[in-house]
Amino acid sequence: MEGSSSMLDAEAVADLVLLDPLTEESLVQTLQERFRRRDIYTYIGNVVISVNPYQSLPIYTPEKVEEYRNCSFFAVKPHIYAIADDAYRSLRDRDRDQCILITGESGAGKTEASKLVMSYVAAVSSKGEEVNKVKEQLLQSNPVLEAFGNAKTVRNDNSSRFGKYMDIEFDFKGEPLGGVISNYLLEKSRIVRHVKGERNFHIFYQLLAGASPQLLQQLKLRQDCGHYGYLDREGSSLPGMDDAANFHAMQDAMRIIGFSPTEVIELLQVTAVVLKLGNVQLSSSFQASGMEACSISEPQELHEICELIGLDPGALERALCSRTVKARDEAVLTTLTVPQGYYGRDALAKNIYSRLFDWLVKRINASIQVKSDKQRKVMGVLDIYGFEIFQDNGFEQFIINYCNEKLQQIFILMTLKEEQEEYVREGIQWTPVEFFDNSIICNLIENNTTGILAMLDEECLRPGVVNEDTFLTKLNQLLATHKHYESKETQNARRVTDASLPPRCFRIHHYAGKVTYNVTGFIEKNNDLLFRDLSQAMWAAQHALLRSLFPEGDPQKVSLKLPPTAGFQFKSSVAMLMKNLYSKNPNYIRCIKPNDTKSAMVFTPELVLAQVRYLGLLENVRVRRAGYAFRQLYGPFLQRYKMLNAQTWPCWDRGDREGTEVLLAGLQFPAEELAFGHTKIFIRSPRTLFDLERRRQERVAELATLIQKMFRGWRCRIQYQLMRKSQILISAWFRGHRQKNRYKQMKRSALILQAYARGWKARKTYRKYFRSSASTCLANFIYRRLVQKYLVGLAKNLPPLSVTDRTWPPAPYRFLDNTNQELKNIFYHWKCKKYRDQLSASRRAQLQARLCASELFKDKKTLYPKSLQQPFRGEYLGLKQNPKYQKLHAVAKDKLVMADSVRKVNRASGKTVPRLLLLTTEHLVLADPKAAQPKTVLSLGDIRGVSVTRFSDGFLALHLKEVSTVGAKGDFLLVSDHLIELVTRLYQTFEATTGQALPLHITDRFSTRFPKGDVSITVVESPKASTNGPVCKKKGSNKMEVLVY
Ligand SMILES: Nc1ncnc2c1ncn2[C@@H]1O[C@H](COP(=O)(O)OP(=O)(O)O)[C@@H](O)[C@H]1O
Ligand SMILES: [Mg+2]
Repeated sequence: MEGSSSMLDAEAVADLVLLDPLTEESLVQTLQERFRRRDIYTYIGNVVISVNPYQSLPIYTPEKVEEYRNCSFFAVKPHIYAIADDAYRSLRDRDRDQCILITGESGAGKTEASKLVMSYVAAVSSKGEEVNKVKEQLLQSNPVLEAFGNAKTVRNDNSSRFGKYMDIEFDFKGEPLGGVISNYLLEKSRIVRHVKGERNFHIFYQLLAGASPQLLQQLKLRQDCGHYGYLDREGSSLPGMDDAANFHAMQDAMRIIGFSPTEVIELLQVTAVVLKLGNVQLSSSFQASGMEACSISEPQELHEICELIGLDPGALERALCSRTVKARDEAVLTTLTVPQGYYGRDALAKNIYSRLFDWLVKRINASIQVKSDKQRKVMGVLDIYGFEIFQDNGFEQFIINYCNEKLQQIFILMTLKEEQEEYVREGIQWTPVEFFDNSIICNLIENNTTGILAMLDEECLRPGVVNEDTFLTKLNQLLATHKHYESKETQNARRVTDASLPPRCFRIHHYAGKVTYNVTGFIEKNNDLLFRDLSQAMWAAQHALLRSLFPEGDPQKVSLKLPPTAGFQFKSSVAMLMKNLYSKNPNYIRCIKPNDTKSAMVFTPELVLAQVRYLGLLENVRVRRAGYAFRQLYGPFLQRYKMLNAQTWPCWDRGDREGTEVLLAGLQFPAEELAFGHTKIFIRSPRTLFDLERRRQERVAELATLIQKMFRGWRCRIQYQLMRKSQILISAWFRGHRQKNRYKQMKRSALILQAYARGWKARKTYRKYFRSSASTCLANFIYRRLVQKYLVGLAKNLPPLSVTDRTWPPAPYRFLDNTNQELKNIFYHWKCKKYRDQLSASRRAQLQARLCASELFKDKKTLYPKSLQQPFRGEYLGLKQNPKYQKLHAVAKDKLVMADSVRKVNRASGKTVPRLLLLTTEHLVLADPKAAQPKTVLSLGDIRGVSVTRFSDGFLALHLKEVSTVGAKGDFLLVSDHLIELVTRLYQTFEATTGQALPLHITDRFSTRFPKGDVSITVVESPKASTNGPVCKKKGSNKMEVLVY
C-alpha cells in the first residue's frame, strides 16, 4: 500500500510519531523532505500538519475525493481529505459532533484548508436537489464573506480580516441541512488606514473594477481607485487576482445564497457610502466666536452620499462637523476641530462597514439556516485569523493573538494536558511529558481583575483624563513581575537594556513568540465610540439597510449606558467559542508557512522551526508516542466491538470492563498495545485500532448479511405464507364460486327439465283445454263461422225457384266447392220436388209421359225433338163430344188412354188406310173411321213389342204374340202423326197393366211376322221429301222397304 509504505519511509515518515530519532531538526527535516516531494500533509497521530505549497497541486481532484472516501485513515497518504473524511464519518456513524480547528500563522493556508474541508464534505455527502442547493449555498458563502472580510496583507494576498466559525448541520443520514456562521472581530481599522503594500478590503477594488458603468453611475462611483482616499490613492491591482471576475463571482454567489436584487444594490450602496466618506474633506474655519471649527471643504461628495442614502446634506454636515454635548441636563452643540471631524468621519466609516459586515453574516445565516427542527449533528469549521507579528502591532493584533493563544490552549488542553491527566486519573502507568502550558498567558490577558483586557476596560470607563499612558503605567505596576510581560519600565526595573522595545509599548511572550504591542489607539479602539450625532444622522436616512444598522440612532431609544467595549465583547465571544469547541470532538489541522515570500516550493527551515516550536509539535509527538492513540469508556467500547467475540456477542450480562477484557483477549493483540484504566480502555497504536475497526467492519458486514438473510428469509416466508393463504382463499372462493355456478346451472337445468316434464304432463292432461285443440277449435269455429256466413249468404241470395233456372252462386271458399255443388243439386232437386208436388194429376201424368218419351226416344229417334212442341193431348178424336164415336166411347169408357187417327199399312201392298186407334188401360183398339166400329181389339198382353225407325217418321211395327187370337193375323204396321206420344202411352200402359217393360226397338231393319210369313223390313231414308209420310214398298214376298224422309 502506497500510504503505509510512505508512512514507514525513514526519511520522510508520514506520521511523525514514527520519527526516529525524535528531535526538532529531524522533525523539520522530515517536513522539508516531504515538502520537496510535494507531500504537503503529514500526521502526528490524527493531527494533520499542512505546509502551504503556494502553488496548486493536483491532489484535490474528484478522483482524490473518491480515493479518500470511506477509506481507512492510515491506509492512504496523509491528506486533509482524510481528516475531513474521518470527522465526517465519526459524525455520521458515531453520532459525535465534530469541530475542525485550523490554526497557523497568517498566510499558512487556514482559509484554503477550511474550504477544502467544506468541499470534501459536500462532495461525499449524498446528492439530491434539496441537498445540493444547501451545499451550494454553504459553499457560496465563502466568496461573499471573502470579498467583504478579506484583504491583502504583507503576509497574505487573501488574508481573512475576521474570524469565522461555521457550523455545518447534518441530519442523521449525514446529509447537510444548513449551517450557521459566526464572525469574530472584523479588522475595521483597515477601512480608514492600512500599511503600505497592503490593501483595503477586496470589495472596494472588486466593485470599482467589476461594476458596469451603469451600476457605477447608480452608486455615484468612479472606476478609478486612485480617486478614493481610503484606497490610499495608489496602484491597487494584484497579480494573480482578478478583481472584476471576483466581483461577478461574488454577485453570482449572492444570487445563489438568495439575496434579492434590492438587497444587493442596497449592500453596494452602503459600501459606496463608506468609500465616499473617505473623500469627504474637512477644513478649518474660524467662527464668529474666534474658535476654530471644521467645515466641509468640498461638498460634492457629501451631497452624493446624501443622495445615495436619502438624507439631508445639512444634517450629515452638522453631524460631521459638530457634536451635541450634554451638560447638566442641557444639550449643547459644540463645533469640532478638524482632527476631531476626521476622527468622527473615520469612526462613522468603520462603524458602517463593520455593521454592514455583521448584517451580511446575519443575512447569509438567514438563507443557510436549517429550516426543519430535525435532530442535527454539527461539524464546526474554525478558520480564524492566524497569529500575527508585524512591525507595528496594535489593538487588533493583540486581540487576534489572544484568540490564537486560546486556541493553542484548547489544543494543549485536549491533546497534551488532558491526555496526561487522564492517564493519571485512569491509573495507567505513565511518565509525564514536559510541555508548555500557555494558560498563564491566557490568564495574563483575560483575567477578570488583573488581565490586560480588564485593565483596558477599566481605563476606558474611568472618569477623568484617560489615555494610553495611564493604561500602560497601570499595566507596568500590576504585571511587573509577570514572566510573560515586558515593557520598557519592567526592563528598566530589571536593568535590562533592550533597544527593540520602544516606549509606549508592551511586549507579551506569546506561545508563538514575543510580540511588542504599541498601546497607541488601544483605548479608542476598545471604546469603539461613535458620536451619537452620527448614529442619529444615519438613523435619519431613508436608506432602509443603512438605517437598520444604526438602531441606537433612534432618538426615542437614547440610552446613557455605554456600549460594551470591543475587548469585552471579543473576550465573551471567544469564551463562547471555546465552550462550543470543547463540546465537540476536535480535529486539528495545523498550518505551517514555509517561507515569508509567498513563493512556491521554498522551504525556510528556520521559519518552519519557529512554527514547529510554538505549535508544540514536538511535545505533541512525544505525548502521542508515550501515550495511547485511542481511549474509550468500557461501555461504549464493548457496545461497539462486542460482535468480535462469540462470548460477548450478542449480549454480555456481566461488567463492561470484564466484557472488554474477554473481548480483547479473544482478539490476541500484543499486551503492550492495550491498557485497562479504571473506566476506559486504552489502545496504544492507531494500527491496532484500525485493525479492530477493520475486523468490526468485516463482522458488521457479516452480521448485516446475516440479518439481511434472516430478514429476507422471514420476509419471503411471510410473503409466501401470505400468498399461500391468499391462494387457498382464492381457490376456495373460486371453487365455491364454480360449484355455485354449476349448482345454479344444474338447478336451472333441473328446473327446465321439471318445467318441461310438468308442462308435458299438464299438456297431456289438459291438452283438450289448451292450445293444441284450440287451433282446431278455432279452425272449427272459423270454419263454422265461414260456413254459417256462407249459408246465411246463400239463404239470402237463393236463386229463383224456377226449375229451369240452374244458376247458383259460386262457393266463396274453395273448401266449400263440393258442398256448394251438393247444395246446388239438393236445391235443384228440392226445387224440382216442390215443383212436382204442386203439379195436378193430369199434368203429372202428362209430364210422366213426357219423361217416358224422353227416356225412350231422346237421341235415338230424329222425330223426338219435333214432338216436344206438341202437347200430349191423348184425346185427338173428341170421342165424348162426337156422337159418331159413341160406340167407341163406350168401349173405352173411363179407361181410355189415347184416341187418335192412324193409318194402317197394308201388309200386302204397302198402301195405307186410315184407322181410328183407341188405347185403353187394357186394350188397343183399331177402328174404322167411317163405321166407327172397333175392327181389331188387342189385349195389351198380346203385344210382344214395338219397332220404330230412327228417322222422323211416324212408322211403327206392332209385334204381337203368336199365341194370341189377333196375333194370328200377324203384326200391324201403322203410321201415326203422334208416334212419340202413342208409343210412350203404349209403353206406360203396358207396363202398368202387365208389370213388364214393353220391348221397343228403334232400328233400321227388323222383321215382322205376317200371316204369310215373316217379312224383313228395311228402313231407307229418302232424299226427297214427301208429305205423305213413309211409303212402304213390298219387295218380294218377305221383304219390304219403308222409305222415310
Ligand atoms: N493547499 C494549498 N494549495 C495551494 N495553495 C495554497 C494552499 N493553501 C494555501 N495556499 C496559498 O496560500 C495563500 C494563503 O492562504 P490562506 O488560506 O488565505 O491563508 P490564511 O487563511 O492562513 O491566512 C492562498 O491564497 C493560496 O495562494
Ligand atoms: Mg485566512
